Amino acid sequence: MNTELEHRIQQLSSPKILDLGCGDPFTFFNLFQLCNFTYTGVDKRAEHVICRKPNGKVANYWIRNKYQIGINGAENSRYLDADEFSKFFRFHFETDILNYLSLTSDKHDVIILSNILHFFPKEIAKQTYKHCLSRLTDDGVIYVSVFPDGYLYGIPDMAEPYNPRDLHELKLEVHVLWANEASIDEMYQFIGRAT
Ligand SMILES: C[S@@+](CC[C@H](N)C(=O)[O-])C[C@H]1O[C@@H](n2cnc3c(N)ncnc32)[C@H](O)[C@@H]1O
Repeated sequence: MNTELEHRIQQLSSPKILDLGCGDPFTFFNLFQLCNFTYTGVDKRAEHVICRKPNGKVANYWIRNKYQIGINGAENSRYLDADEFSKFFRFHFETDILNYLSLTSDKHDVIILSNILHFFPKEIAKQTYKHCLSRLTDDGVIYVSVFPDGYLYGIPDMAEPYNPRDLHELKLEVHVLWANEASIDEMYQFIGRAT
């Protein structure tokens, strides 16, 4: 996870986080050891696909100990039982983020669009982003990261040629709290607040 985002989450008091295209949620389990939040993760892939790792260890951990999120044997790890887990963590696997957004009206203190918008056609990406801005609480923040130009990962899923500069414009729609002023060759990221 982006360290700037991590620091900001830690500074908030029990924020509601929405992670769209969440992929592997384990970093949030680790972060939960440091601060409280409620987390909703949405991803179109199935849970067992998301949690599969090459050595199988993480997958086994997830399946056997789904509710025990004291991770890595860390000292003072906090363990949640099943009820607590479902209070703090909700997942919507096999769910398209656009469907999810159209079916709910909840507001969130942090919305995460990490390495996801470049999978969509440009106009859909922009609509999705605007939809997310309307779902932020008054002081809520949005985090966006997009792949740099020429980054091939994910290309099979892409609906049209990807030009990261199109998505850089998204930054203009928020009050920017932090951004990496990366070149077009690097991962582009920012954190903003709806204006
Ligand atoms: C590159 S991964 C990023 C995962 C995570 N957000 C991160 O930054 O590590 C992109 C994720 O988006 C998911 N995804 C792509 N299109 C999606 C869609 N339309 N609805 C929901 N999830 C989607 C993929 O299944 C994948 O897990």
